[in-house]
Amino acid sequence: MKNYVNIAIVGLGQIGIYLYNELKLKKKAIEKKTGKRIQIVAISAKNRNKKRKFKIDKKLFFSNPNLIFKSKKIDILFESIGHSDGISKKIVETALKKKIHVITPNKALISKHGDYLAKLAEKNKVNLEFEASVAGGIPILRTIKEGLATNTIKKVYGILNGTTNYILTEMENSNESFDKVLKKAQQHGYAEPINPKLDLNGFDAFAKVRILSALAFNNRISNQKCLMEGIENIDLKDIKIAKQLNLRIKLLGISEIINNRLFETVHPCLVGQDTYIGNVSGVMNAVITEGKPVGESILQGEGAGPGPTSSSLLSDLLSILRGNIKYPFGVASNKRKVAKVFNNDDYSNSLYLRFEVNDKQGVLSTITNRLAKFKISVKRIIQTPDKKRNTATIIIITHKTSEKNARNCLSIFKKSKNILKFPTLIRLYN
Ligand SMILES: NC(=O)c1ccc[n+]([C@@H]2O[C@H](COP(=O)([O-])OP(=O)(O)OC[C@H]3O[C@@H](n4cnc5c(N)ncnc54)[C@H](OP(=O)(O)O)[C@@H]3O)[C@@H](O)[C@H]2O)c1
Repeated sequence: MKNYVNIAIVGLGQIGIYLYNELKLKKKAIEKKTGKRIQIVAISAKNRNKKRKFKIDKKLFFSNPNLIFKSKKIDILFESIGHSDGISKKIVETALKKKIHVITPNKALISKHGDYLAKLAEKNKVNLEFEASVAGGIPILRTIKEGLATNTIKKVYGILNGTTNYILTEMENSNESFDKVLKKAQQHGYAEPINPKLDLNGFDAFAKVRILSALAFNNRISNQKCLMEGIENIDLKDIKIAKQLNLRIKLLGISEIINNRLFETVHPCLVGQDTYIGNVSGVMNAVITEGKPVGESILQGEGAGPGPTSSSLLSDLLSILRGNIKYPFGVASNKRKVAKVFNNDDYSNSLYLRFEVNDKQGVLSTITNRLAKFKISVKRIIQTPDKKRNTATIIIITHKTSEKNARNCLSIFKKSKNILKFPTLIRLYN
């Protein structure tokens, strides 16, 4: 690569504008570390006159990012618009075809089109880097691709979404409902103000799981139907009960090889209060890898926000400036196979079941008989009556059972007259 490197930034939102400023501030430091002089020659966003956090050079501004390629010579392009398709895909595609290196924090794009774009990058002998797409500032992708390169990884899991971790932590600390704490998260800027759905329903974490799996297991990005649950239905009551049981609820993203098959999931889990993962709180993210021979490795840090995300984007930049064309997923695209997938129905866990019932004789035995019929053995039962309302809360912790068995067993309670609502089910981790 030549000594002067031309850079374009497409998207000047929370991430893009912060990156723009960082690149200007760190120009000298980057030159010192890489011997390359970077210069920003083009920037693009939708609205030219929008007030932004840092002042931009309007002479470099393009309202239509497609036009950048016609009038500027670019070596490295940052894509930070954030769509899974449309303009984001088009810009990245065009750049790679024009032999321009691409760096993006866009998990939606990479989890959907990463295989195709990686192939394109390889064909054109340029880099496609996306460290910031998973867990913000935590350098987990480079750790898997480089630091753990010769290990056989069996499992990657962790807290991959800061918004949901903040909400769960804050519900426990403040004793406030999901809705109240969500509002707080929005006020602090931890949750999207208009549509926080993709964080809350597990989709954001799941896109990251898919990228992690592809890297950890050298597979193509999977597109199988997955077991995905978010935290929208987590009740303060369950958080309080968990606390009494020395447990804590965390939204975990899990990717692992079970019986030589790939299993990916995102769902709330009950974890021990004394475990490492149980103590990752607030907006923090943590990713744990289990590899051979290295054993367990843990990386924890801030999973979102302009600062941590820019840290990863700049590490991608330095990796490119230091030379070497690398396979985007660590191995050549033609060596990455489609993974055989594990059947979600066979996924097994101990379960936490909460039943809200009429406090009548025989109700508990109806429940336990039903569980017994499906060979779900009970580890622990706690029954708390509400004398005023003549109801009771029954908590049952079961031994391990499969998803299918649990689903079939619980289905009957949809119509049971003394069971006041369909039971709440939360899986216990391990
Ligand atoms: N925010 C985080 O903490 C975080 C963390 C990790 C990864 N990421 C990823 O980083 C990416 C960017 O996120 P963000 O939070 O910065 O998003 P954002 O604030 O919504 O910014 C999007 C930017 O794209 C611009 N844009 C939209 N359509 C465009 C078009 N047709 N042509 C040119 N520019 C266009 C917008 O222009 P205007 O400003 O003119 O409207 C805006 O500057 C996403 O992929 C996200 O998943 C974000």
